[in-house]
Amino acid sequence: MTASQTWTNPLRDPADKRLPRIAGPSGMVIFGVTGDLAYKKLLPAIYDLANRGLLPAGFTLVGYGRRDWSKEEFAAYVEKACAAGARTDFDANVWKHLSQGFEFVNGSFDDDGFDQLAKTLTKLDESRGTGGNWAYYLSVPPEYFSEICHQMQRVGLAESKEDSWRRVIIEKPFGHDQKSAQELNEIVNAVFPESSVFRIDHYLGKETVQNILALRFANQIFEPMWNAHYIDHVQITMAEDIGLGGRAGYYDGIGAARDVIQNHLLQLLALVAMEEPSSFEPQALQAEKIKVLQATKPVHPLNKTTARGQYTAGWQGSEYVVGLREEEGFDPDSDTETYAACTLEVNSRRWGGVPFYLRTGKRLGRRVTEIALVFKHAPYQPFDTGQTEALGQNAVVIRVQPDEGVTMRFGSKVPGTTMEVRDVNMDFAYAEAFTEESPEAYERLILDALLDESSLFPTNEEVELSWSILDPILEFWAETGAPQEYVSGTWGPASADKMLYRNGHEWRRP
Ligand code: BG6
Repeated sequence: MTASQTWTNPLRDPADKRLPRIAGPSGMVIFGVTGDLAYKKLLPAIYDLANRGLLPAGFTLVGYGRRDWSKEEFAAYVEKACAAGARTDFDANVWKHLSQGFEFVNGSFDDDGFDQLAKTLTKLDESRGTGGNWAYYLSVPPEYFSEICHQMQRVGLAESKEDSWRRVIIEKPFGHDQKSAQELNEIVNAVFPESSVFRIDHYLGKETVQNILALRFANQIFEPMWNAHYIDHVQITMAEDIGLGGRAGYYDGIGAARDVIQNHLLQLLALVAMEEPSSFEPQALQAEKIKVLQATKPVHPLNKTTARGQYTAGWQGSEYVVGLREEEGFDPDSDTETYAACTLEVNSRRWGGVPFYLRTGKRLGRRVTEIALVFKHAPYQPFDTGQTEALGQNAVVIRVQPDEGVTMRFGSKVPGTTMEVRDVNMDFAYAEAFTEESPEAYERLILDALLDESSLFPTNEEVELSWSILDPILEFWAETGAPQEYVSGTWGPASADKMLYRNGHEWRRP
């Protein structure tokens, strides 16, 4: 069978989009398989996909790394990772079947380990029926991308053929500014054409993030109000309660804006603010996101419209935690921000004049990611003062995590003899509405990459545009010295509150 002949399950009606999509004959090579991401997310996701019956019968997983591991030692490692991180229950039959397709190739990124890898994949194509279809997951820091891509090209593993495919899956950080992102894209695209490159932004794999599209475009009630006529401002929050212990190597010198705003939060903004795509085909969706990102700019002056903070020691719930500068591996004089907020504008007819406030931080009050569209006040309210005292602004809140769902907030009459109005919430909760459990983001994205479905993967253009939005803010911060301190367990630096007060707004306390 060839890749151009599409693999089909004879029991499945291809026109029925409700049926699960199953990957065709293929395998995956993971570079950096002994790293944190592979252990916690990738290996469990592969097991969960197998358990859900979404991988092909001969699916083959090849680990590549410096350890001198036998196939059995690799399998024991994968088993440990799956036991610790898999979402679905352990099934001995599934495990037996899946683990028959494990291989480990010993090598580093600059030696003849790649020749061995090429030989192994050719052998596996014959013995496992992978058909030459391989996804290469680069779960390694970007400084290794160039070497790996060139080695793959050298040993003939990079090129897709008429009857087989080769894809590369890469993880952020995609550079540290627009220029370095362009350079990185050039390096990768010199070996793998853009259509074979899958950049992971795991937020796009989350069900609640995909639900933004359903909420907006499958319904009639929201879209007529989804614009500057009705919306006063938008708040996008990604708050975490965890600190950075153990992640100094990656995070010191990177900071919250590069780690999260450049990718996850700008993707959320793009999905919330974009126009309706003509379809959900990758090009159509990406074209709309690109238009929004092109229209998005930081609001000036940046000393008033942005905020940057670093956590100090404090109480995180009932636990006393150290500040960033005391975390293991961090420079005690580190100026790396663990909190970042900015005000953006989307220069379009739909959004002109509506501030988009983005914030993210570590060691904040609690873990929550949400998008709140806050409405303007009603133009006139025929109530006595005092009757509507506690009344805020209406809001639609997309609760990305935890407690996934959507809240609508509006004023309602308090029972009694007077006309007192108070804010109430109307809630949709995934956990109550559906019996199905949401798959992990990595399950969805790995499956999509195997299926060549690229809608949920940002393109090189999106990545570069996102940097172009953030770069002026990062440059401004680089000139203005250390971030402001905030105590662990609070909601960030005072400057972040001031950023909104000046517009008569206030952060939601989620
Ligand atoms: C990653 C960031 O992309 O997302 C981390 O690098 C962050 O710093 C993580 O902790 C959060 O992901 P999630 O899915 O737990 O919200």
